[in-house]
Amino acid sequence: MRDGFGRTIDYLRLSITDRCSLRCTYCMPEDGVQWLEHNQILRYEDILRLLRIFAALGVKKIKITGGEPLVRKGVAGLISEIKAIDGIEQVTLTTNGVALKEQLPELLEAGIDGINLSLDTLDRARFAEITRRDALPQVLEGLEAAWSVPGLNLKLNCVAQAGRASDWVSLVGLAKEHDLAVRFIEPMPIGLGGGLESCTEADIRAALEHAYGPLTSCDAVLGNGPAKYYSLPEFQGKIGFISAVSHQFCDRCNRVRLTATGYLKACLQYDVGADLRPLLTGSDEELQAAIEAAIQNKPKAHRFSEKTVENREAHIMSQIGG
Ligand code: GTP
Ligand code: 5AD
Ligand code: SF4
Repeated sequence: MRDGFGRTIDYLRLSITDRCSLRCTYCMPEDGVQWLEHNQILRYEDILRLLRIFAALGVKKIKITGGEPLVRKGVAGLISEIKAIDGIEQVTLTTNGVALKEQLPELLEAGIDGINLSLDTLDRARFAEITRRDALPQVLEGLEAAWSVPGLNLKLNCVAQAGRASDWVSLVGLAKEHDLAVRFIEPMPIGLGGGLESCTEADIRAALEHAYGPLTSCDAVLGNGPAKYYSLPEFQGKIGFISAVSHQFCDRCNRVRLTATGYLKACLQYDVGADLRPLLTGSDEELQAAIEAAIQNKPKAHRFSEKTVENREAHIMSQIGG
């Protein structure tokens, strides 16, 4: 369906848990957060009911997020049931990779259409500093298992931290021999991310070009998100940028978010939307009307650079799913 600004909304980011096996400094406090109780989280059957309604309204692509989605039991089963919904064309997953090696066979069996792995560095000590867990070896096992699957649509997400050019250069090195997209995300001031120093696409690009030579823009469409892609001679993979701050892409926004508690978030930066959970006791028509109203009222754009923003999202990234 279209929102109030004529943008087609056909992509839903579905957060299935607020829990995570890592504690990235820009995402979660050291002691974690007060986890949601099981009874506050949508059951899979409720999620599937809601997704049938979203699909009837034109949503075709689902991105499963968390927290870390693979910490919730039965994700592969959920994926195969989502894939069976009429109108759903793609189900993809964004994961921290810790449990990926173990769960990859069942995810593939369920028909997963793509995997995005969050990885900010290849240096073990630096990884432990960022995530507060010494888990790089496990994540790399997951990554290696994933790139060994022929044809799997695989992307890495690196939240770019100022002054970390050596991390960016070594991550891009992975795209030389492997057909994956290494993507750099400009830090966004959501939750604890507000504490990150700004780092722009231009900064990252300059460091990469210094190491590898000029990046060539390419028109490849490698997903449904806002990333812009580049290639390097003799590299099998691509380099991507998600530059919400320096190259705002809100005019092309195609998405809404459903949190683990059943809140339909119309835009990443604001807490506006619709609480669908209390409506689950009612009819599908009532749910559909609430979804349509929230999409109709989707904000025009983020205002990351402003200090005071009305209806600013108070939740942290792990409670939203990115
Ligand atoms: P694909 O390219 O289709 O795999 O999707 P994606 O890039 O949207 O998914 P992913 O979960 O890998 O998200 C990567 C980064 O993009 C995360 O940091 C998200 O927070 C950010 N992102 C995703 N959607 C939006 C959005 O609508 N607005 C903003 N500002 N950032 C977004
Ligand atoms: N800014 C940009 N990206 C972020 N992510 C988490 N917090 C932030 C932030 N403040 C990323 C994660 C993951 C994706 C879903 O969101 O690293 O790759
Ligand atoms: Fe869409 Fe909001 Fe993200 Fe902009 S900030 S691209 S409007 S979700």
